[in-house]
Amino acid sequence: MTQHNHFDHDFVEDSNTSKNPEFSQIVAKRMSRRTMLKGGTGLTAAAFFGTLPLVGCGSDNDNDNDVPSNGATPAVPATGDLKTPKQLNFTAVAHYTGNEMMVADGYNAEPILHVGTPLITSSDVPEWKDNRENVPESFQFRMGDNHDGMWFFGKNGNNYSAKASDNALLVINHEYTNQSLNPNITVLPDYVAQTGVTGIYAKTRPASNVRRECYAHGVSVVEMKRRANGIGYEMVKDSKFNKRYTSASEIKISGPAAGSDMLKTKYDSTGTKTRGINNQCGAGLSPWGTYLTTEENFINVFARGADKAIIGDKADYAMGRYGLKENGIGGGYLWHTPPKSDEKFMDEFARWNSTATGASALDDYRNAFNTFGYIVEIDPFKPNSNAVKRTALGRFAHENCAYAPVEEGKPVVMYMGDDARGEYIYKFVSDAKWSNVDIGGGLKAGDKYLDKGTLYVAVFKDDGTGEWKALTHGQGALTNANAKYAFADQADVLINARLAGDALGATKMDRPEWVSVSPVTGEVYVTLTNNSNRTPTKHGMNAANPRNYAGDKGNRNGHIIRWAEKNNDHTATSFNWDIYLFAAPNDLTAENLSGLNANNDLSSPDGLYFDPRGVLWIQTDDGAYTSRTNCMLLAALPGKVNDGKEVTTSAGIKTRVGMQANEQNIKRFFVGPKGCEVTGITLTPDFKTLFINIQHPGEDVDGVTWGAIAGGTTPRSATVMITKKDGGVILGESLK
Ligand code: FEO
Ligand code: CA
Ligand code: CA
Repeated sequence: MTQHNHFDHDFVEDSNTSKNPEFSQIVAKRMSRRTMLKGGTGLTAAAFFGTLPLVGCGSDNDNDNDVPSNGATPAVPATGDLKTPKQLNFTAVAHYTGNEMMVADGYNAEPILHVGTPLITSSDVPEWKDNRENVPESFQFRMGDNHDGMWFFGKNGNNYSAKASDNALLVINHEYTNQSLNPNITVLPDYVAQTGVTGIYAKTRPASNVRRECYAHGVSVVEMKRRANGIGYEMVKDSKFNKRYTSASEIKISGPAAGSDMLKTKYDSTGTKTRGINNQCGAGLSPWGTYLTTEENFINVFARGADKAIIGDKADYAMGRYGLKENGIGGGYLWHTPPKSDEKFMDEFARWNSTATGASALDDYRNAFNTFGYIVEIDPFKPNSNAVKRTALGRFAHENCAYAPVEEGKPVVMYMGDDARGEYIYKFVSDAKWSNVDIGGGLKAGDKYLDKGTLYVAVFKDDGTGEWKALTHGQGALTNANAKYAFADQADVLINARLAGDALGATKMDRPEWVSVSPVTGEVYVTLTNNSNRTPTKHGMNAANPRNYAGDKGNRNGHIIRWAEKNNDHTATSFNWDIYLFAAPNDLTAENLSGLNANNDLSSPDGLYFDPRGVLWIQTDDGAYTSRTNCMLLAALPGKVNDGKEVTTSAGIKTRVGMQANEQNIKRFFVGPKGCEVTGITLTPDFKTLFINIQHPGEDVDGVTWGAIAGGTTPRSATVMITKKDGGVILGESLK
């Protein structure tokens, strides 16, 4: 979600007050051009084939623009041509500030699956009525709001098939609800004036409103089939696979923190389950074919009264590090406030109140906050199964989750970012070694690969190298003897991963958003969307986060960082990095360090996705350049770490930027309607349909009706299906 909007739901939590090295005091060192990684960059794009990656490293294919095969045979190849384009041959889409969508010539873009679309046929779930007054409970059977990350799961019969394109389960995140766009959402008058009630109950909301929002969050699973004319897809209404996971669903908690006292609540005295997933942001796929959704700004729906005297300094410090201080109301959702008389289920609303009020943690919801902030695994092909929160991957504001190409007999590696100002980048390395027989293994395979392993946090050094530091209890600073925060056990380390990152000297980044791994080079890319705190007096600058606009405006336009793991081994504990791209308005010369022009300039990169052919798709969620253009989707053909030059930013920081932009290697492909964010992306295995999402069209601007029903005025988030007019392959013109 954007951080610039007026309403509290866009609160981007900012609680990293650690003294971790910003390198701001370190004199910028001259960075020598580093030699290419020994061993080359021979990961195969074939390994990614559509939806499932398979095999891994091979010989050095640096000079081969085609996808290297390395003799590796993907077990389940995509049906599309895996050749990597040598250049981008479509005509760039110009800057655009209107209320429609603009897509490259030769393509169609069509909205489908708008918020509120019924997934089943029932008189209790009527068609959308141009407002959000529909029966609140019915959102359990409708598309939720603010579509975000998603994945296309090819389907053959009742099973997953990475090469199936005719029939699929499209799984879509719903990040949050737009209170500013919700007619008839009520915040009751200030209770202080009326009743004298103060603190976190000073305002209250009706139960029906909160219930509607709770059900409009989460994930939709929607069966899709190819249309009769062969181009694009339509929903299979009433499919037995159609399902909503919401902020009210019962969810299993798994991994090293499951059963910890810190996760026990009045709802569950065992610490192994909770109710709800929240703020589903970017998407991830597991190598075995399940969906990995994320919990990002979950702080928004929690509140906490005065209870430090009860929970003690340590727990108070930990809650504060995740943004929930005493007498705090997360992001203003006020889900804890409906009057008790309105409660339909046990503690339906009280569970969002983290105040310690009872005799113990089993008598209240002081720990409910600790049960959010995880990677959550869903098996879309098992509609009767519960989702599972995977605690081994740490608790923070998870943006997305991207795996490195898997190799038989080697660990599974997942990369992740924590999207808040000054937060960290992580990776998880499984204990279990990958076996292709686990493809299609569902949540059991998840138990095998995601419940045991090592979580690491990244340190980016000014000399262009970096290190991964293990979040392992008992090692180094992560012990009970730590004076700042006494880590009791591994559960404590994972639940409070941010505090562990602080203790390990992790590098504060400019809001890590999506991560994606290049199928061509094996290098890892992360969008750093922007950071208003990247100023000398707040976070300070360093080579990895080197921009501060106009002396005190911070990093306004964002950048994309990338790294190559040592010897191309994703389990390595060191890496080489550079900045692939600086986003900037093309005419802001001092900031435009990548040489962007009007056909490829951008601001605030966010969504990021390498398709199986090695095309990098970049999406924006911007507030800094929207007077010139709405948010967009670009296609790019990146090189590799250290293919560029040394630069000095306007803030006087030396760093390295990748190869300069040109119209062959980055170009604008699509621009969305005014007020929207362009986010979420998935490509069908035949490469003929690209799905993206338009989130919150018209937010903070008047008069936008994109996505409204005929004659209606309420703009609606929706999925957008992009196809070629001739029915061909997306970017097929670039393969010629
Ligand atoms: Fe949900 Fe950080 O974007
Ligand atoms: Ca964003
Ligand atoms: Ca995002």
